[in-house]
Amino acid sequence: MYLPLMSTLSLPTPPDLTITPRDRRFGREAPTPRLWHGGRVEATAIYNALSATFPAGEAFFVESVRKFRDGAPPRLAEEIKAFTTQEVVHSREHDAFNKRAAEAGYDLSQLEARVEGRLAMTRSRPPIASLAVTMALEHFTAILAHQLLANPRHLAGADRETADLWRWHACEEVEHKGVAYDTWLHATRAWTRWKRWKVKAKLMLIVTRNFVVDRTRGAIALMRQDGVTGIPALSRDPPCSFQLPQWQAGPGSSPG
Ligand SMILES: [Fe+2]
Ligand SMILES: [Fe+2]
Repeated sequence: MYLPLMSTLSLPTPPDLTITPRDRRFGREAPTPRLWHGGRVEATAIYNALSATFPAGEAFFVESVRKFRDGAPPRLAEEIKAFTTQEVVHSREHDAFNKRAAEAGYDLSQLEARVEGRLAMTRSRPPIASLAVTMALEHFTAILAHQLLANPRHLAGADRETADLWRWHACEEVEHKGVAYDTWLHATRAWTRWKRWKVKAKLMLIVTRNFVVDRTRGAIALMRQDGVTGIPALSRDPPCSFQLPQWQAGPGSSPG
């Protein structure tokens, strides 16, 4: 069904959506293989680079959203509570996953320091800036999560327990994808539409640039730890487990 642009921009969170925290633990029974993604250096590096950002990043999301929960309508307040619980457990599980990656021999310290640096810079600004950054990054995680769940190829061949960790995280990211945005709408309810758009658009551009550059740098740094360097090495195998969505492929092209 066709929806005019303004309608799609103002679609509310579905009234029947329930955010359900699922306190799961992964990978405690056996060591995680170093190249857990089917023995592939590149795919393992991309996911590990993302995971390195989660413990500090998701703690920052929680802190940023909770600063605006006072005075929130009851439903939003409940959603913020469930969002917080989900993100805290995600942080715990990715912290555990990152420790297993370290035990397998990876040094994530530079990647973690980079994230801490970005977050420190954001925290030095007014709290509404942190909420806007959270809203933008939650948008990113929801896009990635949706893609991860929609296309089983992304985790094909991966260590089962680790694949389950990523799928569980992806489910909950899709489930709570509107919370930071709804909190932003509540926090900026006295702003003009133009001011909201201006701040949102500017932050999204900055966050998009930083997300793509930092995650790419992080993945390259981890590949280097497996002895994979340079452009020829990056192109020896699919450099990324994320495939183009079908609508981007040409007519009649096969996903393979
Ligand atoms: Fe999360
Ligand atoms: Fe999230």
